[in-house]
Amino acid sequence: MRDVVVIGAGMTKFGELWDKSIKDIFVEAALRAIEDAGVKQIDSMYVGAMSSGLFVGQEHLGAVMADYLGVTPIPATHVESACASGGVSFRQAFLEVASGASDIVMAGGVEKMTDGADVTEALATAADQEYEVYQGVTFPGLYAMIAHAHMKEFGTTRKQLAAVAVKNHRNGSKNPNAQFRSEITIDQVLNATMVADPFGLLDCSPVSDGAAAVIVASMDVAKKLKKKPIKVLASAQASDTIALHSRPGITTLGSVVNAAKKAYKMAGLKPSDIDLCEVHDCFTIAEVVVSEDLGFFKKGEGGKAAEKGLTAIGGKIPINTSGGLKSKGHPVGATGIAQIIELYEQLNGKAGDRQVKGARIGMAQNMGGSGASCVIHILESGK
Ligand code: COA
Repeated sequence: MRDVVVIGAGMTKFGELWDKSIKDIFVEAALRAIEDAGVKQIDSMYVGAMSSGLFVGQEHLGAVMADYLGVTPIPATHVESACASGGVSFRQAFLEVASGASDIVMAGGVEKMTDGADVTEALATAADQEYEVYQGVTFPGLYAMIAHAHMKEFGTTRKQLAAVAVKNHRNGSKNPNAQFRSEITIDQVLNATMVADPFGLLDCSPVSDGAAAVIVASMDVAKKLKKKPIKVLASAQASDTIALHSRPGITTLGSVVNAAKKAYKMAGLKPSDIDLCEVHDCFTIAEVVVSEDLGFFKKGEGGKAAEKGLTAIGGKIPINTSGGLKSKGHPVGATGIAQIIELYEQLNGKAGDRQVKGARIGMAQNMGGSGASCVIHILESGK
């Protein structure tokens, strides 16, 4: 496989973007990425989006976005893997360049969730319809079951979960593109309106609009453009059962464990080599479980680690320096690409107040549903 590097990135602010359409926000992010990369053309493009048909009544997003971006007739492909659509879009672009099929490819992601659709119902189409959704459970409820199991098995507390939200809001307050830039306290999280026991409002990622895009290219192209090479060391993906009840246990996410194993092997690295990680904190418990399943902490220790500040900027392994899904926002199809953008900025030393000193190797973990799909990337900053 050829070496693949990220040479440009662009995103919109995440939040309630009522004055713009899904096309407007995708094109805005894409143009910023193209300008940042300094390229005149792209060979092909991918658009990660979970459910634009249900959210805004528009499908066929590959063609729609190529048209509005003015890049027809290049190949343009819509990628769907629920909330992992963005990460999988990036993986497709990586594979296309790594294979030698193309030299310069755009990986984008977008979602417009606040235009009036029944968001909870639309999101729930990523769970098992017959055995979960029909019984009345949606994503807050599914992750709440994971949280209760983790609390029972390892003594994880609500306060430890709250520490995840507090840390992510602190990081997000330093991110100009974040939806919620306010700092919050443990007490505010614990006393917030109940959504699905044990989660209050502030344990949940919000409903968001947003778009993000990156340009990946071969090392030769990056050299010609005199770009600092932010190289993709690993791209790995795994799946798991769609329903929680089919798994041997629910305090471990098998797709995360399996994708991580592949990613570390491909990069020739171990968890202690990672300088920062963006993880899929759709609910506070998700960050706790994933931080364990990626090997940063022993099973059952993720909650304590968050409470002790080990995942804060300056801690053992800074997690979600961008603010994560919790504070930055979670326009589902754009999330995986926004994670790559955070790594790109950190590895270029351009993350401003949230910069992790000396960051050289970053990981992004993006998952769909209650972990039925997971995609992981490891990026390294070259000289
Ligand atoms: N974090 C912080 N603040 C939030 C928030 C969140 N997750 N969600 C909403 N808010 C704020 C709003 O800005 C609003 O503030 P305001 O009154 O100052 O304007 C207030 O809380 C109420 O917002 P509202 O939109 O009425 O909330 P809601 O009750 O409709 O939705 C959730 C709240 C948590 C149910 C919703 O955000 C949700 O479903 N989140 C999970 C999304 C999800 O499942 N994603 C996929 C994961 S797999």
